[in-house]
Amino acid sequence: MTQTDPLVEIRGLNKYFGSNHVLRDIDFSVARGEVVCVIGPSGSGKSTLLRCVNLLETPQSGTVKVNEQELTDPDCDIDAARRQIGMVFQQFNLFPHHSALDNCTLALTTVLKKKRDEAERIARENLERVGLAEKVDAYPARLSGGQQQRVAIARALSMDPALMLFDEPTSALDPELVGEVLTVMRRLADEGMTMIVVTHEIAFAREVADRVVFMDGGGIVEQGKPSTLLSEPREPRTRDFLKRVLEPVAD
Ligand SMILES: Nc1ncnc2c1ncn2[C@@H]1O[C@H](COP(=O)(O)OP(=O)(O)OP(=O)(O)O)[C@@H](O)[C@H]1O
Ligand SMILES: [Mg+2]
Repeated sequence: MTQTDPLVEIRGLNKYFGSNHVLRDIDFSVARGEVVCVIGPSGSGKSTLLRCVNLLETPQSGTVKVNEQELTDPDCDIDAARRQIGMVFQQFNLFPHHSALDNCTLALTTVLKKKRDEAERIARENLERVGLAEKVDAYPARLSGGQQQRVAIARALSMDPALMLFDEPTSALDPELVGEVLTVMRRLADEGMTMIVVTHEIAFAREVADRVVFMDGGGIVEQGKPSTLLSEPREPRTRDFLKRVLEPVAD
């Protein structure tokens, strides 16, 4: 296997919720070190696709391969496979009764069976990486939304993932806190982290993404370099969507 093999490889993925066919024959690959931003209207299947990458949602058909492991193989050790995939949600999902440090050490000591001092060293390193060295002892309630989201990112990074998934990581934040989270994500991208980011931050996608994927109606309608897709989209549906996000008007 060479390093040019895709880190993520999804083939023929179909997902239904009851009779609702929410992902339709998706083929989607992500190269090592690539940053892919996924955009598209509400309900188009962005979160479901992201959740299929670590099999938080089970597809009805198709294969999901991450880092040479086929997660859809019934013999796959799914917990082990998931450990190499960090996920950051819109609603931080921190443990409220644990400090920032302990939010980061918890999985290290319980899941990876690291010794306490080793876990703390890793957690401190990653909290420093997201600019929160001063906040290691703070509890989530005492942190701003932007700081909480950065703890969530540090927690995911502490597991030393091969891939990071972000589902609208800045959508729950007050506008003035969005920048600090995007700065951390931009730095991660610069460090070569492979990232799939569902986002409405078109400026971020334009600047940081290697590729932008536009989804609508459970399918990938169009994808390409941000400069092309965001400025000269080929498909009318992409154009309409971008017009609506970039030039919002009151109804
Ligand atoms: N757990 C679920 N049970 C039933 N239907 C679901 C579930 N999760 C999502 N859906 C449906 O699947 C479709 C795709 O939803 P999804 O959350 O992936 O869209 P999205 O593109 O992430 O939208 P948004 O931008 O609003 O987050 C929608 O029709 C949604 O109602
Ligand atoms: Mg979503």
